[in-house]
Amino acid sequence: MRKPVIAGNWKLYKTTPEALELVTSLKPLVENNQGVEIVVAPVFTVLASIKQPLAGSPINLAAQNCHWEEEGAFTGEVSPKMLIDAGCSHVIIGHSERRQYFGETDATVNRKMKAALNAGLTVLFCIGETLAERDAEQTLEVLKTQICGGLEGLSNEQLAKVVIAYEPVWAIGTGKTATNDQAQDAHSFIRGVVGGLYGPAAADAMRILYGGSVKPDNIKGLMAQPDIDGALVGGASLKADSFAAIVNYQN
Ligand code: 13P
Repeated sequence: MRKPVIAGNWKLYKTTPEALELVTSLKPLVENNQGVEIVVAPVFTVLASIKQPLAGSPINLAAQNCHWEEEGAFTGEVSPKMLIDAGCSHVIIGHSERRQYFGETDATVNRKMKAALNAGLTVLFCIGETLAERDAEQTLEVLKTQICGGLEGLSNEQLAKVVIAYEPVWAIGTGKTATNDQAQDAHSFIRGVVGGLYGPAAADAMRILYGGSVKPDNIKGLMAQPDIDGALVGGASLKADSFAAIVNYQN
């Protein structure tokens, strides 16, 4: 059985007081939910401040990025070891916004994945096609390239701490969610690619999240798909009520 993951990517939102307010409201709404792996990913500067307030709750802490080196002369970067120090158990790597605006490639994503996994973090590894790629019928090819590039050189043991997040770029922040069928088709393909690389048991165990305009009113339909194991939520994770409604989709 794959335990569902519902993760909130706060992106470049929330100062520390705002984050504390959100977490304080969120905690009682999700504290009885043992069936879902709940994750929130604030900006770096907020991480250490919400570590204590989250202690004892089922909410896990993630960063939105990391560097591949443990330490050194890398101005402006934050290493996996430092994320653990700040209270993180998870990290998002390869988000399309980082690929699009900050020059991330499959090769840098791969280096970051290895560093994060070696440090003991669980990685939320993001992939997804743009609208132009979908229109050109390149979706499957793009996904396969991103999966193979991102996972290159990872052992089966390392793969066990990877969660894949499929986020079609055209569905992010647009209110245009992929249909349940479009998402299921992509997820089933992704599971097949993982199976080809690591075998059927690894493919069966892999949690694959959907991301892109996930809201309380579409989460149920998405989660009913056999290959959808959770969600990576942007906008709707910034309010306690809507994020809790997504986390508690089974209620
Ligand atoms: P939205 O839920 O705002 O579309 O964002 C999705 C996303 O990019 C999560 O990482």
